[in-house]
Amino acid sequence: MSNHLSTYKDRTNLIPYSSRLAEGRALVQDVWSIFNAANLPSDCLNLGQGYMNFAPPRWIVDSAETALRGVAANHYSHPRGRIRLREAIRNFYSPSFGKELNVESEILVTSGANEGQYSVFTAFLEPGDEVIMFEPFFDQYLPSVTFNGGKPVYVPLHPPSDNKKNPTSDDWTIDFDELRRAITPRSKMIIVNTPHNPVGKVYRRSELEHIAALAEEHNLLVMADEVYDCLVFDGKEHVRIATLPGMWDRTVTVGSAGKAFAATGWRVGWLIGPPSIIQPTLAATTRIVFCTNSPLQEAAASGLEKAQEFKFFETQLSEYTTRRAILMDAFEKLGLKYTIPEGTYFVLLDVSRVKFPHDYPFPPSIIGRGRDFKASWFIAIEIGVSSIPVSEFYCEEHANIGEAYARFSFCKDYDTLKQAAERLQKLKQYID
Ligand SMILES: Cc1ncc(COP(=O)(O)O)c(C=O)c1O
Repeated sequence: MSNHLSTYKDRTNLIPYSSRLAEGRALVQDVWSIFNAANLPSDCLNLGQGYMNFAPPRWIVDSAETALRGVAANHYSHPRGRIRLREAIRNFYSPSFGKELNVESEILVTSGANEGQYSVFTAFLEPGDEVIMFEPFFDQYLPSVTFNGGKPVYVPLHPPSDNKKNPTSDDWTIDFDELRRAITPRSKMIIVNTPHNPVGKVYRRSELEHIAALAEEHNLLVMADEVYDCLVFDGKEHVRIATLPGMWDRTVTVGSAGKAFAATGWRVGWLIGPPSIIQPTLAATTRIVFCTNSPLQEAAASGLEKAQEFKFFETQLSEYTTRRAILMDAFEKLGLKYTIPEGTYFVLLDVSRVKFPHDYPFPPSIIGRGRDFKASWFIAIEIGVSSIPVSEFYCEEHANIGEAYARFSFCKDYDTLKQAAERLQKLKQYID
């Protein structure tokens, strides 16, 4: 017995972990843990991570409380999701899909959009299958694809040219020849995130038609990540790629109660698509989480049910329009270039003109990373406003595109944003 134990002198790493963790940057220190509030001065204003610093609406929270006080909603839900939420999703979304959604076969409630997307990858990827994503990409896509044996293939959105005045997210463009070249016989899926995090791009109908034609030609599954569909500004049209001719059959559309109702910690999301995509994904999600937490499904249902009565999404959009204006105004006064977002709650600031001393004491987590990491760190420490460096959302080969930008979130209350706007003016002294 004692002989057996002594075989292993170093007992700190007895069991080798799965090699899949070596893929998809899963073990690398990610940007969220570097730019975490815990690593920054305590009075630093957090415009880094994309979660709100305000509560969900009171009437939705009341529904959560009511659900918790009952019996049924404290127990397992059906793996498809609670029928009340599926019906609410059907009633809310059917008009924008131009069809009556079937609650049994075309809607699946998931534990946040993220888990829903993971489950689609589990359900559809074979080892070596390629998944095309536009850069900058939402960083969870990468490990979610590789954990499921897939291979990410990157196609960058091209930033506005330097001489473009007042660029908008629409000026970030797709090179369709590049996209076509990225497609191979192993291509299985393409992810289309509109409105786009972090660019704020709301894909034009013509762009989606082009993607749709390629998806049809190469038999690709389309993952339409539309978690910011309630945040589209200035009357811009949000087109669901699933509604383009023939696309329903190959598209799964992803939604999130976290984004819709300022409740990112609830972990409630949903997938909408044809039975041929929803049924295999149900098999995957059932194995992964079995079901999504029940009380907050009830609350999300009440949010969708009463949104119209409370003019919730209209009011929320107008509040976000004001928040966006506070931040854009600050950047305008600063004289730094930024991308006007047509959707989401992010603004990309061009930080390439921000100068920091060469001997600035950057921590080891920042040294060796892109210039944007240094700029974001410097702004957080010296100005007191945190942001997220954008090269994190690119593959190594294309990281230089992202190095010019820092992402600032405006899902924060007016006071925080006004304070941040004021502080950011101090950056003037560091602009060349
Ligand atoms: C583009 C995009 N997709 C998916 C998600 C995940 O949403 P959820 O919090 O519902 O998992 C996010 C969250 O930031 C996102 O930005």
